[in-house]
Amino acid sequence: MDMLETDKNWMIEETEYHPSKEPLGGTHFCTGNGFMGLRGSFEESGASQAQALLVAGLYQKNVGRGYSFADTFFRKRFVLDEVKIRREEVCHTLVNISDPLLVNIIIGGKPFRMWDGILLEYRRWLDMHSSCLCREVRWDNGAGLITRIRIDRFTSMADRNLILMRYAITPENYSGEVCIESGIDASINDRCRESLIDADGAPDGVTLMFSLPDPLMEMGQAVRHKLFLGEQLVEPQWERLEVNRCYTVATQVQVGQGETCCMEKVISVQVSREGAPVDNPIRCAQEGANTALRLGYAQCFEAHRAVWEQIWAQSDIEIEGDDKAQRLVRFAVYHLIIAAPWNDATVSIGARSLSGPGYGGLVFWETDIYLMPFYDWTFPEIARNHFLYRYALLDAARENARVSGAPGARYPWESALSGKEETAEYLICSRTQLHIVPDVCLAAKRYADASGDSSFGARQALEMAIEGARFMAHFTEFDAQKKRCTIRNVGGPDEYHPVTDSNSYTNFMTARLFEYAAGAWAELLKVSPDEASALRERLGLEDKEISAWLEMAQAMEFLEEPGTGLIEQCAGYFQLKGEWSNVGRQYGGPAAEYHECQGIKQPDVLLLLALFPESFSHKHLLANWDYYERFTQHGSSLSPSVHAWMAARIGLMQKARDYFLMGGDFPFTDYNKDSVGGVQIGNSGGLWQAILFGFAGIMPNGSSLRLDPKLPKEWKRLRIRLAYRGQRFRIDIGPEYLQVEADASNSEAIPFEFRGAICEVGPGNGAVRMR
Ligand code: BGC
Repeated sequence: MDMLETDKNWMIEETEYHPSKEPLGGTHFCTGNGFMGLRGSFEESGASQAQALLVAGLYQKNVGRGYSFADTFFRKRFVLDEVKIRREEVCHTLVNISDPLLVNIIIGGKPFRMWDGILLEYRRWLDMHSSCLCREVRWDNGAGLITRIRIDRFTSMADRNLILMRYAITPENYSGEVCIESGIDASINDRCRESLIDADGAPDGVTLMFSLPDPLMEMGQAVRHKLFLGEQLVEPQWERLEVNRCYTVATQVQVGQGETCCMEKVISVQVSREGAPVDNPIRCAQEGANTALRLGYAQCFEAHRAVWEQIWAQSDIEIEGDDKAQRLVRFAVYHLIIAAPWNDATVSIGARSLSGPGYGGLVFWETDIYLMPFYDWTFPEIARNHFLYRYALLDAARENARVSGAPGARYPWESALSGKEETAEYLICSRTQLHIVPDVCLAAKRYADASGDSSFGARQALEMAIEGARFMAHFTEFDAQKKRCTIRNVGGPDEYHPVTDSNSYTNFMTARLFEYAAGAWAELLKVSPDEASALRERLGLEDKEISAWLEMAQAMEFLEEPGTGLIEQCAGYFQLKGEWSNVGRQYGGPAAEYHECQGIKQPDVLLLLALFPESFSHKHLLANWDYYERFTQHGSSLSPSVHAWMAARIGLMQKARDYFLMGGDFPFTDYNKDSVGGVQIGNSGGLWQAILFGFAGIMPNGSSLRLDPKLPKEWKRLRIRLAYRGQRFRIDIGPEYLQVEADASNSEAIPFEFRGAICEVGPGNGAVRMR
């Protein structure tokens, strides 16, 4: 790992300490493996907002979740139902159960704290290559005893139930006793009670059992320790302590001047819940900890590092000539990797992944639109898991539709385990952001197309599309005067205009969904009539529904200005006030009557243009860029990456780079003052798409992949890795060439198009260079 100390482009680093920065550090220094996310808090505790251990799927019922802004313009203008606003709401959010990192050391009677004594030197860095968080401190305990402390920890990718830590203490100018206390802090939750399990009798460890009540779940956490003086294993007397729900073991060691006392700590976490049961999670946690302790930190780290090596070989993006962009794109990809539930189709990725408590760990539309393309094109098995999750919740979506008086299926705006709507009722988005339905269904189609998983496309994705189309058809009205169809009272992605008519994004997506559902159905009828008739019967599908979808798709209103290509975001948008200086960037401040202005929170029309490059010309891109860029407030981190993507397509390379850096830096500049809640993972997915579909200009074209790269002048070279229809490629883009190399394990060639030439690239071709 230390080789990476020389390669800053793999590192997120901090060299100054300030207590007020700790909560953000929790986000910047997160490690994880998709099963768990461990925030970058300090082992000796500190700011509580820094700390969280979040486990995928560990949702619990939450009553009375209040939104301070429920009382603002939504109420004044749209909701006006006092009863609903005041009513207690029930939803499910991820719970943070315990802090198993807890380590306290006491030197000369003084506990080590970053803010106490004298911090002589400090450095902390996240090595993204091996996903290891390291901290080096030189600390004076205030009485002149100087100690060097080095702490390394990782959340294992090789065994996803494990976290390992190595804590090294070296007295610099004294010999003496060091007291060490380590264990689990369970005091941070009051949602469930823990019990101490003594069954394995290991004197160097603690096992806790947590029972979570609603829904019923069980979690086991076991920690064990091993101590070395220099290279020598020592077996000290450990004493069990239990103070204020902190369960620890403690010991004292005599350490000579310049000698290093090193503690290895292993933490094993197991969860059993409906849908993902684990037989005896307590015993599994204990066995996991015992095995890891026996193997030792170095061996476990090597296994973890090897998995990461493999992952990066399939997903790294290299940008030569622009260190900042390089580091930020790696941070984005790193987070996409640690967010992904690799082996679990019962959960998906929340808006802040497992990197923080923001948005309660709930799954929004951006998982489908912003995140999935990354997985479709690098680790399609993860995308498949997500769409299996959506498919498994199709019945719940049918029930959501039924509750809103509509046929078909309505995916919830915020989703947890059950697929029911988790959004508080007084929040308007769940009722008006209907675009979630075509978002999910069309993303499933995109997954099937890019991965080549035609079986999923022809079955599960088709069924989702049919039910989604039925739902959207219910809301599609025919305006006899205009002879056009439209959808009223909806909001597109831009949440500053939450209730509008004829939102272009929603109308366009819905029309594409109608066409897709009808087309995929026709295809199934052709290739597998028996399956089609079984599906028809199961869904009660009628031919007249399908023809109605096609008619509605044809007639769907799309507010494009004739001649210019400018698309109006929604009916009446161009008539709204143009000035936007008083538009609050904060969501819903009382004075923020932004729905009356043209200021937008995040791209709406521009996102549509980005998602459907084949449907819009350069003229469209230019006209809409010129119009909407100036109104966009970037009130959501889902915003700058789409601007980078669009600017790159238009050829505004300076702007493209600026927006790319702005988006990449969002968690670090804390642009919207909410990064303490975690990395907004949609932003990471958006940045990745800006690279692939913006800068590299990748676009599937029939059976081939077309590339039309455009790089900012600082980027000397861009290298990407991708998987397409089961084949893996490395693509190297220089100022004047494109080189494509197929993975040796590929089974077929894929044609690549570049500047009018087409080249088949298959496993035996070596690196194919095109100019
Ligand atoms: C954005 C939404 C997004 C949500 C969760 C909001 O700020 O406007 O588009 O779904 O955050 O990330």
